Amino acid sequence: MRLTLTSEAETIALGERLGRGLRPGAVVLLRGELGAGKTTLARGLARGAGYKGRVSSPTFALAHAYRGKSLTVHHLDLYRVARGRDSELGLDELLADPRGAVVVEWPDAAGGTWPKDRLEVTLSHAAGGRRAAAKATGPASRKILESFR
Ligand SMILES: Nc1ncnc2c1ncn2[C@@H]1O[C@H](COP(=O)(O)OP(=O)(O)OP(=O)(O)O)[C@@H](O)[C@H]1O
Ligand SMILES: [Mg+2]
Repeated sequence: MRLTLTSEAETIALGERLGRGLRPGAVVLLRGELGAGKTTLARGLARGAGYKGRVSSPTFALAHAYRGKSLTVHHLDLYRVARGRDSELGLDELLADPRGAVVVEWPDAAGGTWPKDRLEVTLSHAAGGRRAAAKATGPASRKILESFR
């Protein structure tokens, strides 16, 4: 899936639509350079999953949990996590949360490994806004994209 997003609102709307398809165990990896819109998309994902509160960048906290009615979205930003230190973050616990989905900015920064089945979203700067490309790598993530269409 490829889309052009001409405003912040469109990035949030894309997140909301994808967020409605999130189920426990879902993993969403958000890639893209600095300022590409990853946190903005995560804000939409949390809203789409039923979270009503404020979503901010977890750059300093590393992880925020947004509790919706039936799903908790764990939002991580690994930009500042040193390579090889990912095992100290308790990622395994977050990934094992039976009520949770995990959304990760800078998923490659810490050098860890993610579940095979995940939704991979890449955002990039483009004339007039941003471009988004999404790819599912297994049955659960494919369902998220299917519910989107
Ligand atoms: N489609 C869009 N068109 C124009 N601006 C956008 C779009 N989507 C998001 N933005 C803006 O881009 C800026 C950076 O967004 P955001 O913080 O989400 O990026 P990020 O990828 O999380 O950055 P970082 O790598 O620093 O975490 C924000 O001001 C946001 O409003
Ligand atoms: Mg960010």
